[in-house]
Amino acid sequence: MDQASRIIIQPPVYGAFKKIINNSGNHVVYNYMLEQDDVYAIDFDNLKDTLSKQKVSALIFCNPHNPTGNVWSYADINQLASILNEKNVMLLCDEIFADLVYTPYRFVSILNLKEDDLSNVIIFNSVSKSFNLPGLVGSYAIIPNEVVRQKITRTI
Ligand SMILES: Cc1ncc(COP(=O)(O)O)c(C=O)c1O
Repeated sequence: MDQASRIIIQPPVYGAFKKIINNSGNHVVYNYMLEQDDVYAIDFDNLKDTLSKQKVSALIFCNPHNPTGNVWSYADINQLASILNEKNVMLLCDEIFADLVYTPYRFVSILNLKEDDLSNVIIFNSVSKSFNLPGLVGSYAIIPNEVVRQKITRTI
């Protein structure tokens, strides 16, 4: 039986996401961003359609988004989390560019969601972008849900 998981990424996005999924023996599923006049948006309709047709384990979310520069709003992250929670899909949030957001934009971490909506969330971060230390190989994860945290801790 194929034990591999399907994991969604939202291109155009940081190329390593695809490599990590492939290199770990899992399958990449694409939810391409909508683009009009260089303005990008999450394709929520296609995401819902994808999740209705196939079993997906996780979505990797980039906030702020590399390379489009999108700083996602509370409405965006709330909608994304609720679609994924409904299907029990993990939301893996890369927030590595959080400190590099300037007025009038405002970074909204996924941690601003209600506690109940954070059960399937893992946040990944590092000081490498904030302090210009590329390839630091030092990073951290925030896992709000106790059960998920213990499960991950046991496997590393
Ligand atoms: C979205 C995103 N996450 C993670 C990384 C990895 O950063 P680093 O190589 O500084 O650890 C990068 C690097 O450009 C990135 O763009």
